[in-house]
Amino acid sequence: MGTFDGKVAVVTGGTTGIGLAAARRLADDGAKVFIVGRREAELKQAVDEIGNGAIGIRGDVADLGDLDRLYATVAEQGGIDVLFVNAGGGEFTRLEDVTEKHFDQTFDTNVKGTLFTVQKALPHLNEGASVILTGSTAAGSGAEAFGVYAASKAAIRSFARTWANELKGRGVRVNALIPGPVETPGISGLAADEAGAKELKGYLAGQVPLGRMGRPEEIAAAVAFLASDQSSFITGSELYVDGGLNQI
Ligand SMILES: NC(=O)c1ccc[n+]([C@@H]2O[C@H](COP(=O)([O-])OP(=O)(O)OC[C@H]3O[C@@H](n4cnc5c(N)ncnc54)[C@H](OP(=O)(O)O)[C@@H]3O)[C@@H](O)[C@H]2O)c1
Repeated sequence: MGTFDGKVAVVTGGTTGIGLAAARRLADDGAKVFIVGRREAELKQAVDEIGNGAIGIRGDVADLGDLDRLYATVAEQGGIDVLFVNAGGGEFTRLEDVTEKHFDQTFDTNVKGTLFTVQKALPHLNEGASVILTGSTAAGSGAEAFGVYAASKAAIRSFARTWANELKGRGVRVNALIPGPVETPGISGLAADEAGAKELKGYLAGQVPLGRMGRPEEIAAAVAFLASDQSSFITGSELYVDGGLNQI
């Protein structure tokens, strides 16, 4: 018997990194998993990797039409029990260099995408569903050249509070999951090249009290906790999985 036998889970940004690890964990524990991402090849590869009848739906979370298509497909399998709203990303840009394009790209995926992913899921959420939003320790650290990303992730924490309140009557819990630095393609992509990525990861690992970056599976374990009845009295909360980075 798996924890999520008979449950339906949707994971946005489920093709690589944290989302892929979470999708794999939920599927291994019995869930019927739908993953969303924009790149076709990565989507196909992730579906193969997750196995267990996982379904990939290509789409951009900032595109409301794509979200409608996603939920129309998911609805054929029944209501949603776990919604992991994880698609996101950012780039290093100092205040003086921020462009309208940089701002729009970051907020379109991280903020608009999150809002409409949840809004459009509302008719499909089962009683007792768990909604998990991916935030970031960056929201609370003031790291240089990461201001737009950090602000977008601060919005995530705020959304979790409001939506937990708005959805409590349906027994739906909403929480923010706050990863510290985690070894993913997304982190490597912040650097210009491989050498830069190695340097960045070394720097980040050195900042973390536990002395290393996190593994996607460690974030997935926290997703599984927030998705399950083990966290039945937790809503509107933020769960840091950051090796102590923002704590001590
Ligand atoms: N890694 C870390 O250290 C860290 C720390 C704190 C928070 N986070 C957050 O964790 C989440 C996952 O990041 P990650 O590190 O696992 O990065 P990643 O490996 O780059 O994964 C990002 C995922 O999101 C998808 N995605 C991005 N923009 C999208 C869009 N507009 N529509 C649909 N899918 C989209 C990507 O697929 P496509 O590109 O194919 O669409 C991919 O599946 C993000 O929200 C990130 O901000 C990461």
